[in-house]
Amino acid sequence: CGIVGYVGSADADGRPVDVVLEGLRRLEYRGYDSAGVAAVGPGGALATAKKAGKLANLVEELDAHPLPDATAAIGHTRWATHGAPTDRNAHPHVAGRVAVIHNGIVENFVALRAELAAEGVEFLSETDTEVAAHLLDRAYATTGDLTTAMQAVARRLEGTFTLLAVHADHPRTVVGARHDSPLVVGLGQGENYLGSDVAAFISHTREALELGQDQVVTITPTSVEVTDFAGASVHARRYTVDWDAAAAEKGGFRSFMDKEIHDQPHAVADTLLGRTDVRGRLVLDEVRISEDVLRAVDKIVVVACGTAAYAGHVAKYAIEHWCRVPVEVELAHEFRYRDPVVNARTLVVAISQSGETMDTLMAVRHAREQGATALAIVNTHGSTIPRESDAVLYTHAGPEIAVASTKAFLAQITATYLLGLYLAQLRGNMFADEVETILAELRAMPDKIQTVLDRSARVQEIARWMADTPSVLFLGRHVGYPVALEGALKLKELAYIHAEGFAAGELKHGPIALVEPGQPVFVVVPSPRGRHSLHAKVVSNIQEIRARGARTIVIAEDGDEAVVPFADEVFRVPQAPTLLAPLLSVVPLQVFACELATAKGLDVDQPRNLAKSVTVE
Ligand code: G6P
Repeated sequence: CGIVGYVGSADADGRPVDVVLEGLRRLEYRGYDSAGVAAVGPGGALATAKKAGKLANLVEELDAHPLPDATAAIGHTRWATHGAPTDRNAHPHVAGRVAVIHNGIVENFVALRAELAAEGVEFLSETDTEVAAHLLDRAYATTGDLTTAMQAVARRLEGTFTLLAVHADHPRTVVGARHDSPLVVGLGQGENYLGSDVAAFISHTREALELGQDQVVTITPTSVEVTDFAGASVHARRYTVDWDAAAAEKGGFRSFMDKEIHDQPHAVADTLLGRTDVRGRLVLDEVRISEDVLRAVDKIVVVACGTAAYAGHVAKYAIEHWCRVPVEVELAHEFRYRDPVVNARTLVVAISQSGETMDTLMAVRHAREQGATALAIVNTHGSTIPRESDAVLYTHAGPEIAVASTKAFLAQITATYLLGLYLAQLRGNMFADEVETILAELRAMPDKIQTVLDRSARVQEIARWMADTPSVLFLGRHVGYPVALEGALKLKELAYIHAEGFAAGELKHGPIALVEPGQPVFVVVPSPRGRHSLHAKVVSNIQEIRARGARTIVIAEDGDEAVVPFADEVFRVPQAPTLLAPLLSVVPLQVFACELATAKGLDVDQPRNLAKSVTVE
């Protein structure tokens, strides 16, 4: 869910609600089942508006029935957990003179609800959030102080939560609490902000405060106070956000997805930037883990979810090849709950665009409890996973707004290459000059990605032709396998088409039964120049499916003529070393999914049922 809070000066003149709506527009990618705002004004009135569906429905409602002038407001876009996405279940939830919005899950809400019901409370929604509103209303009745009341509520809730509240008696205050769920403070002049991430207030201020876990924050127009749940003051770190509002706008593209796909040469270049010295040598000062610990590592486990997990899958091939250390890749939620074997010699690499994915965070916590060292590869500064890891290697993809990941994926793969080369050099598996050769090849990748983008027209044409296709298969081998998986995921997410990715070698062991005449199959073909070339085997796989009537769409290197006789269509990518090729071969698959979904009239930035940062387990 996306959360925004704002307090301004007395002459705010309708501004708080507008500021909150603008923040919600920027956070809508975090959830878009329903949206709502609550505002309090100098007269002591509390007003709310909420609507099922996208933010536009709420804006329409507010245009028709504006809220009274306010000095403080909170707003929410929801990704439903408890209770269907209806008007009634939309946040804010009101109890007495208090309104509350919530991100996360209150795990003990059944018990709390029963307790409150026994005391005569009547509930208006099916949400877990409403209990928090009633608890806050009651705690305030006892303490008469909103901050202490919020601390008391936070102590009673189990699960994960960010809560924001406004109270009719306090028209210049917003109070928030966070436990395992994101919340940052934006610092203004005579006004202050709260948000699930900095996008909520980036058009107003780039000055921010990072909150820690289990903290309560109270903002007024001129003050920000942070305490722990027991009420003791704590210090919050101040930082300046290194991107501006323009980075979070579409900039002339049809969609954020389209823009982000086209941003990819920069995402990769920026992730490489500053990580080599003038002589082309690798410098990764950020990896603040002692060299002795890194030398002693005997296993690397990559934990991640969704697209980030496929980046980890690519990393496995590169890091094992370069470092000769076993690399496991596991979905974070599976890793966490299966009693995995990790110890002080395990390096856990957590990959996450948002840095907030709860499944990934829990995996990191669990691994560290077992003595493992955790390195985060994350795109979002000020997020939770880096705070809870031993070190962080930031990807510099810039803000990724479209829900389905594209440029963050390429930046993540790039960062894992840097990590692999760093470890290889440190552990003596590679000489500095070998590392420099690969770095030079990496630096050539942004231009090659641009070349792939420049050739998009044909991919888009084919995508439009295929808009009615019910199912698409994707095949790849070696690093082409995770690329195939990602190609299938993009098509599922964006176009709601049944799509599956397979290891091409596995085809004959079952999936080939799916192939019938006319079935479209994408095949990611490895370079014919590779040292352990799998090229011939993949070409055989193409022939096997072609023989059964499949329509083959092949992604192949420039100059690879061997595939031509067996391909109904060839999308060309520039030549590149095998291990780096995913940075190129995935691009036509992203363009294909984006274009096909657009042709179907779908919202590629906000696909149904998804949310960008899933902060529940
Ligand atoms: C969500 C998004 C996916 C993303 C995954 C992991 O499910 O819809 O696009 O790949 O989370 O997100 P992260 O922020 O951890 O990379």
